[in-house]
Amino acid sequence: MTSVIKATVDNSVSGYQTFTVGTFSFNRDEYFAYINCPNGEYVMSIDDFLRALMRDVAWGFFYGTVAFDDVFGTINHYGNVDMYMGAQHQDWIVSERAYTENFKSDVLMGVFKSILSDWVNEGFDPFAAPQETGLAWGRKNGNEDALIDRQREVAKRMVGMPGDAPLRSDENGYSVNRAFADVDQEQPIIEAMPGFEGELSAFNFFGYLSRSDVTWNPSVVSVVRQSLFCPTTEEYILPIDHGNDRCEWFLQMSDEIIWDIKDKESHPIATVTMRAGDVSAMPGDIRHQGQSPKRSMLLVWENGSPEILEMIRNGTVPMVPVEF
Ligand code: PHB
Ligand code: FE
Repeated sequence: MTSVIKATVDNSVSGYQTFTVGTFSFNRDEYFAYINCPNGEYVMSIDDFLRALMRDVAWGFFYGTVAFDDVFGTINHYGNVDMYMGAQHQDWIVSERAYTENFKSDVLMGVFKSILSDWVNEGFDPFAAPQETGLAWGRKNGNEDALIDRQREVAKRMVGMPGDAPLRSDENGYSVNRAFADVDQEQPIIEAMPGFEGELSAFNFFGYLSRSDVTWNPSVVSVVRQSLFCPTTEEYILPIDHGNDRCEWFLQMSDEIIWDIKDKESHPIATVTMRAGDVSAMPGDIRHQGQSPKRSMLLVWENGSPEILEMIRNGTVPMVPVEF
């Protein structure tokens, strides 16, 4: 094993806390996050680290791998979760630096939430586009617990149905984003036959998305068995590199996203540029990270099945959406 190098982080100067879970420990100073494990220390820019951590927390470790970058990340086993350093990077594996430790999901989640609470300074919103937030840098200065605790919207049936997630409007605090000022805000008129009131619903989907106040944070607008429609608005870079454990569909609803596709050992495979109207299916054995030059609308179509991993393992369903 190569030598273990540790940077000196002086909490008495920066004002931040150190966090420990298992054999991992986390420190921050004015510009960087320092992640220590028995095989050494890894350093990340603090803004990237906090944006990625925010997604991992908000999505409950998500589907499969949440790679903060090519080196550090988590792998969800639904109930327990691996935290790794280098285990998804061929060179780290070859040089025997790769390290993985397993945690009960609620234990790691508790620590991750505490890090966010202590390390996010007043004015920095890890969910916001860089142009719409203050900065992550500097010594400890307040917190943004109200922002980092916000729950993502999850419909039980469909947004706007009685008792379900509400439509977004100026009245409930969702104004139209600067990039979507031209989006029509008319709502459809619903005339249900007698007996079907409360069962029939429709809403202006583009209007709904134009009012999203976060980036790279899919909400769930409709649920049909395991079919989840998860639209989101995107600007700048997806703060994580997602390694799914099942296939997933992308429908580009407006503007453009450039997707970098890698394999699970961090080798680049493809670049996919999606323009308004394009549809793509991402296989479950790759990683993808998007870049959106201007705020855009994306519909992520997920299969929420708890059985699908077992079905992939025993060959009932393939890891790819189409076999040629
Ligand atoms: C994805 O990993 O598929 C993903 C995550 C967040 C987004 C969009 C796509 O906002
Ligand atoms: Fe994904």
